[in-house]
Amino acid sequence: MDGPLFAHPSEREFARILDFYRIAWQYEPRSFILHEQDGQVSEMFTPDFYLPDLDLYLELTTMRQRLVTKKNRKLRRLQELYPEINIRLLYKRDVYELLAKYGYHPAEVEPPQFDELLREAKHILFPERQVRETVRRLGMELSGDYADRHPLLVGVLKGVTFFLADLIRQMPIELEIDFMAISQLGTRGGSAVRIVKDLEQDIAGRHVVLVEDIVDTGLTLRFLLGYLAQRQPASLEVCTLVDKQPRRLVDVPIRYVGFQVGDEFLVGYGLDFRRRYRNLPFLSALKPETYRADATAEPGPYTSAQAR
Ligand code: IMP
Repeated sequence: MDGPLFAHPSEREFARILDFYRIAWQYEPRSFILHEQDGQVSEMFTPDFYLPDLDLYLELTTMRQRLVTKKNRKLRRLQELYPEINIRLLYKRDVYELLAKYGYHPAEVEPPQFDELLREAKHILFPERQVRETVRRLGMELSGDYADRHPLLVGVLKGVTFFLADLIRQMPIELEIDFMAISQLGTRGGSAVRIVKDLEQDIAGRHVVLVEDIVDTGLTLRFLLGYLAQRQPASLEVCTLVDKQPRRLVDVPIRYVGFQVGDEFLVGYGLDFRRRYRNLPFLSALKPETYRADATAEPGPYTSAQAR
């Protein structure tokens, strides 16, 4: 959508509310001179909005109290100099109450920009909103299936923590969580995969859902399912955020899948490449050059066990 370049996101949201009510508006159409010295303008004031039908200027203030005081002073000066001008100051609280009333988020919270980290990524595969929607869908599915079964959701550290934390907040049922960690290929003493952090509780007779961030070859999952099945849970199912089916080496039963992807290396939302990128709030594909470029320093993502 083309439109003015708003100085603050809350102004953009406010303009949408005005649009909704078909109230015509202009953004910063006029600047008022407040002080002049020797023919030079030394202070100006440009209200944020003008509503021509109401002949009203509006100034939105979402700033700290100290700056509000300064703005108030300017506004008083404007009213002295231009008594015919109708202007109202909307305070932070007023603006947010209005925005909240119409279902907007507190617009002051701008999402952090991850441009620097993203330089090495290929493209955003699943943006934040899509991840949120998918996690919500999985949460609802699981809640329906496990409503009266008091499930135990088991996450495998570390990548899954992001997904698991968001997932259970979409599950309004009685549940518990626990974590396991397994050794990585290529680390010292790592000639065979083993459990380095075990569950804290007995799972015999429990309804267990193994929650994974991503299933690739399926080897990790196969090992974990074998381990958990020995402990005789009442039921054992798998929920993964991402399923990389084309790279599967062993068949593993996965009941709940968020996204199906092809043969790409993904980072973000907990997934890492050499311990980096976990903090990206979306899922992104990594450029093959990125992991090939330093393949001499460490094995590539597919030749080492992926850093979990
Ligand atoms: P699998 O044993 O090959 O299925 O691999 C499972 C583990 O490898 C996952 O739990 C991840 O930690 C890691 N992994 C596999 N593919 C990716 C990826 O595309 N990005 C990040 N980590 C991955």
